[in-house]
Amino acid sequence: MKVIYNIGLLAGIQPEGVLRVSGADQARTGVLENAWLAIEDGRIVDFGSGVMPGPDRASLIDAHGGMVIPGFCDSHTHVVYAGSRDGEFLDKIRGLSYEEIAARGGGILNSADLLHRTSEEDLYEQSMVRVREMMEKGTVAMEIKSGYGLNPADELKMLRVIKRIKETVPACVKSTFLGAHAIGRGYTHEDYVQAVIDMIPAAAEYADFIDVFCDEGFFTIGDTDRILSAAEHLLTPKIHANELAVSGGVQIGVQHKALSVDHLENTTQAEIEALRDTWTMPTFLPGSSFFLGLPYGKARDFLQAGLGIALASDYNPGSSPSGDMRFVMALACIKMKLTPIEAFNAVTLNSAYAMGISSEYGSITRGKRAALLLTTPGWDLTKLPYQYQTPFLREVIW
Ligand code: NIG
Ligand code: FE
Repeated sequence: MKVIYNIGLLAGIQPEGVLRVSGADQARTGVLENAWLAIEDGRIVDFGSGVMPGPDRASLIDAHGGMVIPGFCDSHTHVVYAGSRDGEFLDKIRGLSYEEIAARGGGILNSADLLHRTSEEDLYEQSMVRVREMMEKGTVAMEIKSGYGLNPADELKMLRVIKRIKETVPACVKSTFLGAHAIGRGYTHEDYVQAVIDMIPAAAEYADFIDVFCDEGFFTIGDTDRILSAAEHLLTPKIHANELAVSGGVQIGVQHKALSVDHLENTTQAEIEALRDTWTMPTFLPGSSFFLGLPYGKARDFLQAGLGIALASDYNPGSSPSGDMRFVMALACIKMKLTPIEAFNAVTLNSAYAMGISSEYGSITRGKRAALLLTTPGWDLTKLPYQYQTPFLREVIW
């Protein structure tokens, strides 16, 4: 038994069985001042405020008045990639759009070429640098996508690397097959959609989820429908939708019972209506809005309509080269007008939901995994996104 005592603020408490929060509930979370928390076999067994009813032989962790919260859950990343796309950063500064860079053979295809030339071992090492960086910043659970392979051999290489990361790190890792990220080199559009469909059984040996970049200039509603139909009963969908246009991606995702629909920079009331009373978690990625200069999604309208929303980093070389979840929270507060608690719930419980792990992660709840962040003294949930660059983390407790 391990007991953390002298906790100034224990925040993110949820009753058992709450797997996500929505609407007005997203603006609330349970807190205790002057608290303690007990851990056994890596799980939260009890917590309370005041003097702890401590067993004598517990190993004690003095929190020195710091805050304890559940670790961040990042439900949408592309952190397995090779090399860098800093050359395109200069194109971007000179005024080329994401679509223009992609159309010139840069973008995702550039990463696919780099990945093709990189050995599996090297790809693992390069990716682990980013995974470690994320964990050092407080991420305890992450989803990682394939999608820079774009042919059967290289997609499987990526999925094996994700599996190896899963087996190595203390963080919870979920794997997503994103063969349909761009049209692989040497394929026609039609041939590549068929190739993705043909890859599904092998990918399903490794992956938990399937994703399609359903957007203007990438994969159509028809392609997405075919790919998700082929994956039915094998892989649960999580869709890239409505980043570049009102693409219909949300509706096709909901129709296929997607666990999440992600990006949502461009939505109308129709997307909100499509999401009502469904299991699908709308997920916003403000880091890519920031980096690409795209509109920030209308998360406030979603909350106003009674929906819950999640936030994730989208850490990738082309549209969001950062996995900093506190920066994601800050952007959500400053640019999307979320309150700090709404943003906090979006990067913990709701983002855990968006990767199917909210019964185990995302809140302070008896029985859940003790994957916790212990801060230095003086922090609270408002300061977290407000003072977004000041080091805050004293220790990640696993
Ligand atoms: O989520 N939009 C599609 N895919 C990624 C970008 C990938 C890349 O540019 O390498 C995203 O933004
Ligand atoms: Fe993405």
